[in-house]
Amino acid sequence: MDLLPLLLLSLSLLLPLSSGEISQKLGVCYGQLGNNLPSPSKSVHLLKTLKAERVKLYDANPKILHALKNTDLQVSIMVPNELLVNISTNQTLADQWVHTNVSPFYPQVKIRYLLVGNEIPSSNDNKTIFSLVPAMRRIRSSLKSHKFEKIKVGTPLAMDVLQSSYPPSNGTFRSDLSGPIMKPLLQFLNRTKSFFFIDVYPYFPWASDPEHIKLGYALLKAKNITVTDPGTGLTYHDLLDQMLDAVYFAMKRLGYPDLRIFIAETGWPNEGDFDQIGANIYNAATYNRNVVKKLTAKPPLGTPARPGKVVPAFFFALYNENQKPGPSTERHFGLLYPNGSNVYPIDLSGETRVREYEPLPIPSNNEPYKGKIWCVVAEGANLTALGSALAYACGQGNGTCDPIQPGGKCFKPNSLVWHASYAFSSYWAQFRKVGGTCYFDGLAVQTIKDPSHGSCKFPSITLTSVGK
Ligand SMILES: *[C@@H]1O[C@H](CO)[C@@H](O)[C@H](O)[C@H]1NC(C)=O
Ligand SMILES: *[C@@H]1O[C@H](CO)[C@@H](O)[C@H](O)[C@H]1NC(C)=O
Ligand SMILES: *[C@@H]1O[C@H](CO)[C@@H](O)[C@H](O)[C@H]1NC(C)=O
Ligand SMILES: *[C@@H]1O[C@H](CO)[C@@H](O)[C@H](O)[C@H]1NC(C)=O
Ligand SMILES: *[C@@H]1O[C@H](CO)[C@@H](O)[C@H](O)[C@H]1NC(C)=O
Ligand SMILES: *[C@@H]1O[C@H](CO)[C@@H](O)[C@H](O)[C@H]1NC(C)=O
Ligand SMILES: *[C@@H]1O[C@H](CO)[C@@H](O)[C@H](O)[C@H]1NC(C)=O
Ligand SMILES: *[C@@H]1O[C@H](CO)[C@@H](O)[C@H](O)[C@H]1NC(C)=O
Ligand SMILES: *[C@@H]1O[C@H](CO)[C@@H](O)[C@H](O)[C@H]1NC(C)=O
Repeated sequence: MDLLPLLLLSLSLLLPLSSGEISQKLGVCYGQLGNNLPSPSKSVHLLKTLKAERVKLYDANPKILHALKNTDLQVSIMVPNELLVNISTNQTLADQWVHTNVSPFYPQVKIRYLLVGNEIPSSNDNKTIFSLVPAMRRIRSSLKSHKFEKIKVGTPLAMDVLQSSYPPSNGTFRSDLSGPIMKPLLQFLNRTKSFFFIDVYPYFPWASDPEHIKLGYALLKAKNITVTDPGTGLTYHDLLDQMLDAVYFAMKRLGYPDLRIFIAETGWPNEGDFDQIGANIYNAATYNRNVVKKLTAKPPLGTPARPGKVVPAFFFALYNENQKPGPSTERHFGLLYPNGSNVYPIDLSGETRVREYEPLPIPSNNEPYKGKIWCVVAEGANLTALGSALAYACGQGNGTCDPIQPGGKCFKPNSLVWHASYAFSSYWAQFRKVGGTCYFDGLAVQTIKDPSHGSCKFPSITLTSVGK
């Protein structure tokens, strides 16, 4: 028997991956929207304790890049959204950006991905949307002229670039984006052998329709739930695969079936507001650990439409970030608290088996909350800012603040916080149905403790249907 082919085969298994291939290393998104986060060097240390092998920044923060020098972490940096319009028409500016943000750190920092903007097509700023692909071309050209050819250029998109995602074989890009943006983007990514970077969160479709989507299916832990795509006959065992294949079929529809997918963000919130469901430590740990297991499986699992393909991923996020606006879930995607301790143990190398982790606290909010919810002033709120928020809330709607006018049932002289709490509850009770939130730049917070006193009754909300 001729042993040479066998020898070559085993040699090729030992050789490092050729530049076109990608390893199963997992990474973490290092978001910095917090005023209480650890230093860059502490953060780099924490990334290593999580056994992350990649890290994604939302900028090119020089302090962080400095801390990443001579580490093994593969790094993704980002061109901020605001610069895209100018860069798209000005090669000098693109060159300058690369010169300032990449040259001082490369190759001591293993910069591997340069992402241009974040979720640009989800904005309603047409000028920036149309600048996206031209800006990517200019950035790539700068990298080429600097001979930084190991660095792939991409751009992370959100799932709302899809117009249809169910069943997966029906995956289609939005018609307004398809021709002008997606086609040139896919062509660029395919030509440069880059990746289609996508932010994919099974949490959101589940939370908006928990009656029809089973929690176990979203958490990748249901053994007995499958969804069959009538278009292809493919069987799905979890929502993540379903969402990834919807993206794949949308790319295929435009003629790019070979383009590789890179999960630019995924995760599950570890805490949320009273009117949000399923945001808890148990679910967050379950989802993230199951995703680690799935994506580090050897040989690679891929997805039903693309079995065996490596799907590299970044988890969102390193920390709970207290300055992110919006509902409480937005501030609770962290693997770590700002003090550096784990929200729950997780090993991104996949070496710890899911069943080896200690039991987690049993969740209490996997069903919608049934009682009344109020919106009151948050602890430690800035009193100056509170005055303006009160005025804003009272300026909305009809008689929102009548009871806190002099002589009203809820009037208390010189009581800004009390009045603002009333105004927030009243505003929220009137406007929640049409998208009003209990946030007010962090000045407001939901409570299930009735703030009413005596004859002064605070308006409240009650969830009417699941998740609504
Ligand atoms: C873009 O260029 C214009 C014209 O040179 C300039 O006024 C503007 O400040 C630039 N925008 C940014 C974000 O740098
Ligand atoms: C292009 O960018 C460079 C560097 O910022 C700037 O000096 C130049 O004026 C810009 N060119 C145009 C046409 O805006
Ligand atoms: C496929 O998507 C279209 C919208 O693009 C929708 O109208 C149609 O119902 C979908 N097909 C199935 C089987 O869900
Ligand atoms: C943005 O561009 C799309 C076409 O791609 C157009 O339909 C839409 O009206 C534009 N929006 C604005 C605000 O100009
Ligand atoms: C995409 O890239 C692959 C590999 O480089 C190439 O074979 C294929 O023709 C490209 N697809 C298109 C539609 O350009
Ligand atoms: C799947 O299994 C779980 C736990 O064993 C059970 O509670 C659930 O009813 C089953 N679901 C279906 C659709 O069979
Ligand atoms: C870190 O913060 C979390 C959440 O506030 C807290 O539960 C934990 O005890 C803190 N750990 C340390 C070591 O201070
Ligand atoms: C409080 O809010 C006011 C007005 O919004 C702002 O000018 C001030 O800097 C804030 N103070 C603190 C301590 O954040
Ligand atoms: C305010 O109330 C009046 C009478 O009840 C009604 O006609 C009007 O539409 C309301 N306006 C708003 C903004 O709700």
